[in-house]
Amino acid sequence: MSSEPKKLWGGRFTQSTDAFVEAFTSSIAYDSRLYRHDILASKIHCQMLGRQGIIAVQDVVEIINGLDLVLGELTEGTLPFDDSLEDIHMHVESRLKELIGPVAGKLHTARSRNDQVATDIRLYLRDEVDAMGLAIREVQQNLLNLAKEHVETILPGFTHLQNAQPISFAHHLLAYFEMFDRDFARLVDLRKRLNQLPLGSAALAGTPFPVDREWVATQLGFEGICQNSIDGVSDRDFAVELASAAALIMTHFSRFSEELIFWSSPAFGFVELSDAFCTGSSIMPQKKNPDIPELVRGKTGRVVGNLMALLTLMKGLPLAYNRDMQEDKEPIFDTIDTVLGVLRVFRDLIPGISVKKAAMLAAAGEGFTTATDLADYLVKKNIPFREAHAISGRIVKICVDSDKTLDELTLEKMQEVDSRIEADVAKVLTVQASVNARVSLGGTAFETVKKALISAENRINNNN
Ligand code: ARG
Repeated sequence: MSSEPKKLWGGRFTQSTDAFVEAFTSSIAYDSRLYRHDILASKIHCQMLGRQGIIAVQDVVEIINGLDLVLGELTEGTLPFDDSLEDIHMHVESRLKELIGPVAGKLHTARSRNDQVATDIRLYLRDEVDAMGLAIREVQQNLLNLAKEHVETILPGFTHLQNAQPISFAHHLLAYFEMFDRDFARLVDLRKRLNQLPLGSAALAGTPFPVDREWVATQLGFEGICQNSIDGVSDRDFAVELASAAALIMTHFSRFSEELIFWSSPAFGFVELSDAFCTGSSIMPQKKNPDIPELVRGKTGRVVGNLMALLTLMKGLPLAYNRDMQEDKEPIFDTIDTVLGVLRVFRDLIPGISVKKAAMLAAAGEGFTTATDLADYLVKKNIPFREAHAISGRIVKICVDSDKTLDELTLEKMQEVDSRIEADVAKVLTVQASVNARVSLGGTAFETVKKALISAENRINNNN
């Protein structure tokens, strides 16, 4: 039930670890994905030890060659994982020792697994943040491509999911562009705080060896150095920030998904998703179900849950490192995998959205969506907006009772409600006129949207 005491930390132990406890404490099943970053950081640390005269240059050469061999084995997948070795850091060091002998033991000079793991995870997350940023930009580009085709496609804008005012479909798509742009900006911002070097903090208190943290930071591409050794090993706020940014990304995609789902319902019929992004029903032959956006909406729950898991993990921990913190990995890895998957799926789904312009336009005219335009028309005749609102409301009521749209009602009928309405009212009651009246900055008029498209394109091309 237990193995011989062979742990790298086993000096003070006489009994071997309980076999179930080994499996219970092991993280190798999921932290093996840190191996490249672990070995990279170890190589730089080792070079620094040599440069500073902390270990001999010949030892540095042996250790670095050995680390390259371990890297090769991990990349090939030939290094067996063993729960008794706990985590990726111990696997690398233990294999290094098998390959090059006791000199391997010098690698861990002036270092602890506590600053090691904090460094590895930051390096790893930095790469993933960059991948997420690129993937967001790809989604934004595809959104722009679709939007460019649909400046003059009119659909109803909703509030409370009730027809509100007609809008340009490009304008609606650009709303998501803006959300994703802020998502991108959040990643850029949190990356600065993520990109700080913990190594050199050692276990918690720093190290007596003359380490050169600046050199290590530069070599590893860190923008700065964790200024307090206790903080360096004991906070995971960078992971929480990333999980939070990810939860917002998912929330945005969840809302977009929800819209695609009801837009593609035959009751709306505004869009059709390509077959490649839908599934059928095992019983109802006619069904084409939007499972992909549904899954994206569903996966939002786990990403939000991961954020909660991380916050709850950290909230009661005394300084400095506690083993609880090993539990940061699965939520943050799952978050990254999920978000990258969603970004990829949406990048590929957007170009295949077929837009049913006629259905959108027809719906845009339903629900008296130009009633605000009628009120605005009266305001231009110097009637206070509140009064104009009431007049327009009374006219809507007549339309409801007589089953007519606003532009079908005769001028005479409108004048019965208010004599100040004149023949030129016809010009403001069409959905096209309504859309094009909204020329305010950020509004839905075709010309305004065309400008917004240009500014959006410039923003992603200049990456700011
Ligand atoms: N696997 C551990 C983790 O992820 C590495 C650090 C272990 N440190 C320790 N003092 N036991 O947190």
